[in-house]
Amino acid sequence: MNNIKITKTSQSRLSSVDFENIPFGQTFSDHMFVVDYKDGKWQDPEIMPFGDLLISPVNLALHYGQSIFEGMKASLKNDGTPALFRPEQHVIRINASARRMMMPEMPESLFLDAVNTLVDLEKEWIPKAKGSALYMRPIMFATDAVLGVKVSNTYKFIIIVGPVGPYYPKPVKLIAETKYIRAANGGVGEAKTAGNYAASLLPAQLAKEKGYDQVIWLDSKEFKYIQEAGTMNLFFVFKDKVVTPDTSGTILKGITRMSLIDLLKKDGVTVEERPLSIDEVVEAHNKGNLLEIFGSGTAAVVANVSEFCYKDKIYKLSDSSTHETANGLRERINALRAGEIEDTFGWVVDVKSIAKV
Ligand code: COI
Repeated sequence: MNNIKITKTSQSRLSSVDFENIPFGQTFSDHMFVVDYKDGKWQDPEIMPFGDLLISPVNLALHYGQSIFEGMKASLKNDGTPALFRPEQHVIRINASARRMMMPEMPESLFLDAVNTLVDLEKEWIPKAKGSALYMRPIMFATDAVLGVKVSNTYKFIIIVGPVGPYYPKPVKLIAETKYIRAANGGVGEAKTAGNYAASLLPAQLAKEKGYDQVIWLDSKEFKYIQEAGTMNLFFVFKDKVVTPDTSGTILKGITRMSLIDLLKKDGVTVEERPLSIDEVVEAHNKGNLLEIFGSGTAAVVANVSEFCYKDKIYKLSDSSTHETANGLRERINALRAGEIEDTFGWVVDVKSIAKV
């Protein structure tokens, strides 16, 4: 057990939160976890009142982008127990991102103690409505203050948490991006690093101006193979199988993605993880073989897709209420989180009460 110092806020903001209206990413709880890396180790972990940080204008992360993050969720089971969804997978993924970006790994025990202690302290902030959750955002960034393109010697790791409703409250419209790319082989597409999201903003804005919520990223060589949608992995439901692009280094290894694959396989559905061309999707749509497209992610959970656009042609999908696969999977994930169905995979982990206050 790591010794986490806790300083509580003198004035909670909890009573000012409208839990009926919690748009994604706008409300944060009273406390945050902070730990610094220096002299080759993580030192002095603490939970303190949520607040601004003092950062040098020379901060290496601001200049050269050594910055990674995670997205996780805690929710309440129907019996009121706070629970986490596959927390150990988030440690694995943040450490994979850290290795790619030449940043120090986070010991699993410190990460999990931090998450458990913080959620236990902030459990009143977990929204009760089904499909909502306490979103957790662990972030790690360089803190050296020297202007050299080099690996930082010091870092900060922070976890902030806040109540959220669904990331996409409505079915989304996607447009296949044929000019810009998100990631190329050998790049950083698999890392959850800030720059990947910065690079997506211009194409996302152009897509928005055309009436689309997100882009479908295609591969960097041929603009042919589907990668992901930037905020979520993508699944394509054909008449006889479900296909999702394989994680070959350019797309994020989604934890919801891998969970959905397991659930589908458990149900006996054929799931193929492989290169999938946009032409194959268009052809299936034209032949009436494409039943659904949906996105998956911690924030998005399972997001229905209502239509997609490729080379100025619009391909409409059937009404989302008929999307049995996507809707069924979303229900299953929510029911697992609520403890309503048996968790045969052991994904939902009760929060440990370990806060020493
Ligand atoms: C998440 O799903 O948790 C993410 O980090 C995606 C983010 C762009 C909202």
